Amino acid sequence: MLRRSKLLVLAALLGSSWACNTRYSASAFHLPADGDVERGKAAFLALGCNSCHQVSGTDLPQPAVQPPVPVVLGGDVNERYSDAFLVTEVIDPSRRLAPYPREQIAVDGRSRMPHYADRMSVRQLTDIVAFLQAQYRVRPRLPQYVYY
Ligand code: HEC
Repeated sequence: MLRRSKLLVLAALLGSSWACNTRYSASAFHLPADGDVERGKAAFLALGCNSCHQVSGTDLPQPAVQPPVPVVLGGDVNERYSDAFLVTEVIDPSRRLAPYPREQIAVDGRSRMPHYADRMSVRQLTDIVAFLQAQYRVRPRLPQYVYY
């Protein structure tokens, strides 16, 4: 009986080490709740995000990069932008390119946006996500017609 339980432990250990090779992120991923919109705006400026992105409805300096980046942040969207979505966009922008003409946003299939994983603190990321989330407005849903 003892030998059998030892084998089970070994199997569990092996299983967990195999699992380490594949990345997994639960949909419940979220940042700490203390993200601050004003600090996020300051970090957005300090990290030069505004050199490429216009942010709808803010007084941030206009982007100057050439050729211009067409990706305007903020404004009306159909769904709320989650922490998981925005974090991935900021620290791993090439993973999913935004739906704009490729030649304007990517070079050799990679996003023109720098990867910020080595360039920002988790505090800055948390605040920037809070800032961005505050700039999006979810469009009211069209009325649903129900036929009886
Ligand atoms: C050199 C230009 C450049 C800079 C600087 C830059 N971005 Fe981007 N960003 C892009 C481009 C190009 C895209 C579209 C391609 C993609 O999805 O990665 C993009 C996409 C995004 C998206 C996805 C938008 C969507 O609707 O899918 C977010 C969010 C974003 N950037 C945030 C930031 C933040 C925050 C910073 C600063 C920390 C930043 N960007 C700095 C060029 C830039």
